Amino acid sequence: MSSKEKILQILESKKGITISGEDLAGSLKISRTAVWKAINELRKEGHCILAVTNKGYCLSSENDVISIQGIQHYLAALDSSDKIHLYKTLDSTNQTAKRMALDGAAPGTVVIAEEQLKGRGRMGRSFFSPADTGIYMSMILKPGFDVSKAVLITTAAAVAVCLSIEKIAGVKCSIKWVNDIYIGDKKVCGILTEAVTDFESGHVENIILGIGINVSTSEKTFPSELSRIAGSLIDSADPDIDPLQSNTISKGFTRNQLIAEIINQITKINGVLESRDFIKEYKARSNVLGQEINVLKGGTLEDGKVPDLAPVATAVDIDHDGGLVIQYKDGTIETLNSGEISIRIKKES
Ligand code: BTN
Repeated sequence: MSSKEKILQILESKKGITISGEDLAGSLKISRTAVWKAINELRKEGHCILAVTNKGYCLSSENDVISIQGIQHYLAALDSSDKIHLYKTLDSTNQTAKRMALDGAAPGTVVIAEEQLKGRGRMGRSFFSPADTGIYMSMILKPGFDVSKAVLITTAAAVAVCLSIEKIAGVKCSIKWVNDIYIGDKKVCGILTEAVTDFESGHVENIILGIGINVSTSEKTFPSELSRIAGSLIDSADPDIDPLQSNTISKGFTRNQLIAEIINQITKINGVLESRDFIKEYKARSNVLGQEINVLKGGTLEDGKVPDLAPVATAVDIDHDGGLVIQYKDGTIETLNSGEISIRIKKES
């Protein structure tokens, strides 16, 4: 680890507390000039480090730059930070994770980017991934059982993300089957699960679990086709938040905390996937059960609108494997394991 990284690690572990340059230099056995240089480099990377006259340096408790040192501080398993790969910009964290998995990366490897240029969504759509205001992360998981149960991983991940957001951001989430996470009527998170198959055997070797969260993305910056449905964890209308100052946050949590909690929750839930205990949590958060829906086996249209001929049904249950049980108007029951649904807006009578 470089001196700069070691300093960030110390500052992250004592966030909001002032540490003298002398103490930093002493514990790392480097000169005070080297400390000063490292602090300046960290500041250039966007870290909000305050210099307190005659006292030292303090990492602002509102600093919200993603860093491995910042995430590490909140991880349940200390060694899991070795498996985190952080990038400023990537085309897609899922793509990079897929390449790493093919090159033999270990299960539990996590790829994170501050920005994605070609963020991928479900059904061939793109995922809006602007710099510094969101979380874009992908985790490599090894399916320890029948891969036809892949929907289980997606379902479990939706629960893990909800529990994490609820614990760290203190806001209640709901889930639109299969894996869109909502706060109120706005989608704040999407999950894309992809399989990495061995070319020769055709076996699914790894699952790439990609999670995209709008944390403080300003409403105004969403592309017009998303503005109706997309939202952020931190409401950009909050007067406390200066949208131009994206490397700090004023809601009492940071993206590092949330990323670490998601890694903790997914690791936990993935270990007991087959018990299906999380289905109960999933159902409790479902915003589709009992609702009239449109079934979109081929996905929505480009602009998110529902095709005219999409069949209508009622969502009646989530089954043991995370499938959505629906009932058509003629009484026929079907379980959906893939595809998409759209909740029908009730017309006023
Ligand atoms: C959806 O809502 O359609 C799923 C969106 C998934 C987006 C995440 S962001 C991190 C990971 N990398 C990607 O390219 N996509 C997923």
